[in-house]
Amino acid sequence: MLTRKVWSGRGAELIHLLDAISTNQTYFLREAEHFNYLRAEILPRWQQSDDRGPKHFWSAGCSSGEEPYTLAMVLSEFYSLAKLRGKVKISASDINSKVLEHARQGIYPESRLEKIPPDWLKKYFQKGINRWAGSVRVKAEIRQLVDFFRLNLMEPFPFRQPLDIIFCRNVMIYFDKPTQEKLVQRLSQILKPGGYLFLGHSESLAGVAHPLTYLKPSIYQK
Ligand SMILES: C[S@@+](CC[C@H](N)C(=O)[O-])C[C@H]1O[C@@H](n2cnc3c(N)ncnc32)[C@H](O)[C@@H]1O
Repeated sequence: MLTRKVWSGRGAELIHLLDAISTNQTYFLREAEHFNYLRAEILPRWQQSDDRGPKHFWSAGCSSGEEPYTLAMVLSEFYSLAKLRGKVKISASDINSKVLEHARQGIYPESRLEKIPPDWLKKYFQKGINRWAGSVRVKAEIRQLVDFFRLNLMEPFPFRQPLDIIFCRNVMIYFDKPTQEKLVQRLSQILKPGGYLFLGHSESLAGVAHPLTYLKPSIYQK
C-alpha cells in the first residue's frame, strides 16, 4: 500500500511508476445492478421532477473507460442519443495516464464485450477491419459525451459546480480506512443534496464516518 506522501508527489517518474503498479481491471456493464438502479429508479425520478437542468456524472477512477462509456450508453438508451447533448455531462478521471490514453481511443478487444447486449453492439460500437479485426471502437457519438482527465483523488477536485452522481467503484480498496473516510467525505461535499454515490460491491463504508444515506448495497444518497 502506498503512503499519501507518495500519491501526492509529482513528476514524470512518479507518473510512470503509478502507471506500472495500478490495478486497472474493468469491463463494460460491470456490477450491472448499479446501471439497473440508475435506469429504473434515478432517471425516471429526475424526469418527473421539476429540475430539468443538465446532470453531471463523474466516473472517479475510470480506468480504460468502460465505466463512463457504459454510463453514456445507459443514458442514451434512456433519453435517446439525439436528446442527450446538453442534458448530461460525463466527467471521467484516473491517476494512470496510460489507461486514460486507452480510454480516449475507445478501442477494445471484442472478447471484452461479453456483457454488452447484442443491439448495443450494433448501436454503439464500430467493428474493426484489416489490422483492427477482432477489435471494436466505441462510436464517436458516445466517445464525445465523455470528458477524460488525469486526477489523483488525493488532490483537490477540479469541479466548480456540485455533481449529481459519482461512480467511485473499486478504487477505495487501495486506501486505508482513514484515507477512505477523507475521500468519502470530500466526495460527499461535492455532491448536490439528493445526489448519489456508487461504490464497488466489495467496498463497504462500515467503520467509515460519512454524511450519506444508505440506499442499497454500495449505493448512497446525500
Ligand atoms: C480496478 S480499477 C476500477 C475501474 C472502474 N471504476 C470499475 O469499477 O470497473 C481502479 C482504478 O482506480 C485508479 N486509481 C487508484 N488510485 C487512484 C487515485 N489515488 N486517484 C485516482 N485514481 C486512482 C487506478 O488507476 C485504476 O484505474
